[in-house]
Amino acid sequence: MNLALEYIKYRWNSKGRHGTHSPFVYDFVDKCMQISLDENFLEEREKLFKSLKSDNRAITIEDFGVGSKKLSNERQISQLFKTSSSKGKYGNLLYQLSAFYKPKRILEFGTSLGIGSIHFSKGNSDSIIVTVEACRATRNEALGNFSKLNCKNIESIHTTFSSFLESYSGEKFDIVFIDGHHDGTALKNYLELLNPHTHNDTLFILDDIRWSNSMFSAWKEICNSQDYHVTMDLFRMGIILKRMQQVKEHFVVTI
Ligand SMILES: C[S@@+](CC[C@H](N)C(=O)[O-])C[C@H]1O[C@@H](n2cnc3c(N)ncnc32)[C@H](O)[C@@H]1O
Repeated sequence: MNLALEYIKYRWNSKGRHGTHSPFVYDFVDKCMQISLDENFLEEREKLFKSLKSDNRAITIEDFGVGSKKLSNERQISQLFKTSSSKGKYGNLLYQLSAFYKPKRILEFGTSLGIGSIHFSKGNSDSIIVTVEACRATRNEALGNFSKLNCKNIESIHTTFSSFLESYSGEKFDIVFIDGHHDGTALKNYLELLNPHTHNDTLFILDDIRWSNSMFSAWKEICNSQDYHVTMDLFRMGIILKRMQQVKEHFVVTI
């Protein structure tokens, strides 16, 4: 995968906020993505990020996905923060999605240090965020971060994605963020297994769609399938919705 070339193609195909005529995508670009993050949260976040960046404690990672491209299983918190956390504009987007769509229930596959969950949580304190992580040491770090930022609406589940899907019998999810086990076949399989736990308007966020050839092939297959009528390419992430009531459309959006 030539990421630089992919990025040029992505920018070439992307439309500005006034270049799209789909009401759903227009709202996403013109309203959701324009939401500002709360000032208090920005201050708390800065403090947390500062401490994580300089946290050189090492923990032992248990790998339940496809592992890291470069790192060993003994990892410093600062490395995990750098390589496996939704920061910058992607973290902001998670906040904006929960603030704008006000989902009742959010499912996150892959908690890591909890940065993604924290953004969802602070975007809408009425949402319930269920976040799944199989690595015990990493999850323990996330629990500490949730309590530091006083996030009371996060339910952390210590298990694998597959075991979670086998036993889950609760309410359907309105947003699903798949951010772990970055393998194309696994991704398609999780989407299939998530069918009974999601609905026509569930917004799925797929992270790292260009992480490997297998992820990118799966992404292209998903975009071409008739199962999702809205697909949006945000370069690192993809967003998909079933929305069977509308004609099938694909968008390339710059965030
Ligand atoms: C990229 S990190 C998640 C980052 C986080 N969502 C965020 O936004 O900051 C991926 C996490 O998924 C976990 N993971 C990978 N495969 C898994 C599986 N099959 N079951 C449970 N957890 C898994 C890893 O242990 C890792 O902590």
